[in-house]
Order: sequence, then structure tokens, then C-alpha cells
Amino acid sequence: MNAFDAVSNLPPDRRRVRFGSTDTSIGLQITVRDFGSGIATADLPRLFDPFFTTKSTGMGLGLSIVRSIIEAHGGTIVAANRDPGAEFTVTLPRAPSPQRPATATDEA
Ligand SMILES: Nc1ncnc2c1ncn2[C@@H]1O[C@H](COP(=O)(O)OP(=O)(O)O)[C@@H](O)[C@H]1O
Ligand SMILES: [Mg+2]
Repeated sequence: MNAFDAVSNLPPDRRRVRFGSTDTSIGLQITVRDFGSGIATADLPRLFDPFFTTKSTGMGLGLSIVRSIIEAHGGTIVAANRDPGAEFTVTLPRAPSPQRPATATDEA
């Protein structure tokens, strides 16, 4: 949603958002890149703070909640400026080999 917000003021043919996913040695990496105005350097350290927003109707809770959920799963999220726009990278560790509880079928 933030990426879509970031390109919403551009002419329709320049409203681009790119999603990527890669399987890396440290886990699954998901990127969301937009081609909007990017993030002011002064705002970068505060992006994930609860109630930090630069939008007139923003709540400033999105990134804070997203980061809590990702960190609860052992992952990370980082924001960076690109030229043009911004990119958020989520890294989630691969799940360990499943340790399934034994079921009736296993006994058969
Ligand atoms: N893709 C982006 N491009 C530019 N600024 C962004 C982007 N994503 C987030 N931000 C900045 O981070 C702030 C916090 O985002 P978020 O926590 O989702 O709250 P909200 O969307 O309600 O403002 C935004 O107000 C904006 O300043
Ligand atoms: Mg948001």
C-alpha cells in the first residue's frame, strides 16, 4: 500500500511498483520497489516507529506492525532509497525441516 501511495501522484504510465522474490542462503527475500519520490533521508531512521507518518491521513502504524510480525518470525525488514523511489526488503528464514507430530497414519 505504501508503494502504491508513493506512486499515486505520478502520471498513470509512470506508476510502477515491482515485486521480487529470491531464495537466498539466508532465507526467502521479498522486495517491494516503487518508482516514487523516495524517502527523505531525515525520515529513514523513523520509518518503523509507531505513529510516524508523513501522510495527511496516515496512521503511521503500517510499517511498525509489519516489522513486529516479520521479527516474530525471525525475519528482518529494511528500507532503502533507490533512484528513483524506494525499496523494502523482507528476509524470512527458511522453516526448519518439519517435525510432524506422529499421526495414526504413521503407525499404519
Ligand atoms: N514506499 C515509500 N516511499 C516513500 N515513503 C514511504 C514509503 N513507505 C513508507 N514511507 C514513509 O513511511 C511512513 C510510515 O509508513 P507507515 O508506517 O506505513 O504509515 P502510513 O502509511 O500510515 O503513513 C510514511 O508516512 C512515509 O513517510
Ligand atoms: Mg502505510
